[in-house]
Amino acid sequence: MKLLVTGGAGYVGSVVSALLLEAGHEVVVLDDLSTGHEDAVPEGARLVRGTLRDTAADVLGGAGFDAVLHFAAKSLVGESVEKPGLYWDKNLGESLALLDAMRVAGVPKIVFSSTAATYGEPESTPILETDPTRPTNPYGASKLAIDTALAEYARLHGLGGVSLRYFNVAGAYGRHGERHTVETHLIPNVLKIAQGDGDAVKMFGDDYPTPDGTCVRDYIHVTDLGRAHLLALNACEPGTHRIFNLGSGTGNSVREVVEVCRAVTGREIPAEVAPRRAGDPAVLVASSEKIQAELGWKPERDLRAMVDDAWTFLRSR
Ligand code: UFG
Repeated sequence: MKLLVTGGAGYVGSVVSALLLEAGHEVVVLDDLSTGHEDAVPEGARLVRGTLRDTAADVLGGAGFDAVLHFAAKSLVGESVEKPGLYWDKNLGESLALLDAMRVAGVPKIVFSSTAATYGEPESTPILETDPTRPTNPYGASKLAIDTALAEYARLHGLGGVSLRYFNVAGAYGRHGERHTVETHLIPNVLKIAQGDGDAVKMFGDDYPTPDGTCVRDYIHVTDLGRAHLLALNACEPGTHRIFNLGSGTGNSVREVVEVCRAVTGREIPAEVAPRRAGDPAVLVASSEKIQAELGWKPERDLRAMVDDAWTFLRSR
């Protein structure tokens, strides 16, 4: 297939682009390089630099694309609370420009990078796709609005869409790993301390209602996540929009993650308890039964493999 990957210079987008190329697809990456890196775009993919609003229509027009995989987004929860307008504009506004460009160009399918943040604070765990969506920040709200727009484009314009709601993505694939300028995620931050970059891991809160008092999250290896995109691409059916959670279905606490990082790196990794971070739910674990049943996906790589690969990636840089 001929595929457009928006945000293909970013962490997840570059891994998925690499997997698509390996599967024999033709890949064009559209990325404004605001947070992505030109050298993360895999060899064999063509990079077009630009925003969706300015460039999507030109890239897609008359070019015979079969589908779009849409990763381009702002994705920092804290920043979204400080600058909600930026998140509505970049995430929803630019996605609408993309959807219209697809409609005009007759591109029939889209796989969208949605998020667990669309659910907000869950009422029960593990989270099902049918659970209420009550995002607690503009990042999650803007992604939920895009899911809603996709459903409408499917119903009214015949688009075939799949939204994958990611839980906590981690790990690396060869030279593709996390390279955020502002790093907020737990695993890369712990591994930085292991490398001697910083004094101690700050564990945000140890008085949550969880077995060890620290927050529990559902970590998923970026290559498992990537495989799900290939399955989702084949599952896009005209006139339907489907939503799947994408997590491993198991939870690990912040303390457990730090322990695994110590075991993998063989380093002491000092850690201290810090105040809770605003907006963190105690437990976020996905039910992945729907994607297992309907797309035949299942996770293959555990937390240790994620930390192992992230550590190898970090040390190669
Ligand atoms: N944490 C620490 N110390 C750190 C970094 C994180 O204790 O230095 C904790 C957090 O408080 C949280 C857990 O580790 O309890 C995981 O935090 P991350 O920042 O790695 O991930 P989040 O669960 O906050 O965020 C993820 C995705 C978001 C998505 C969100 C859904 O990265 O894109 O899940 O709620 F929005």
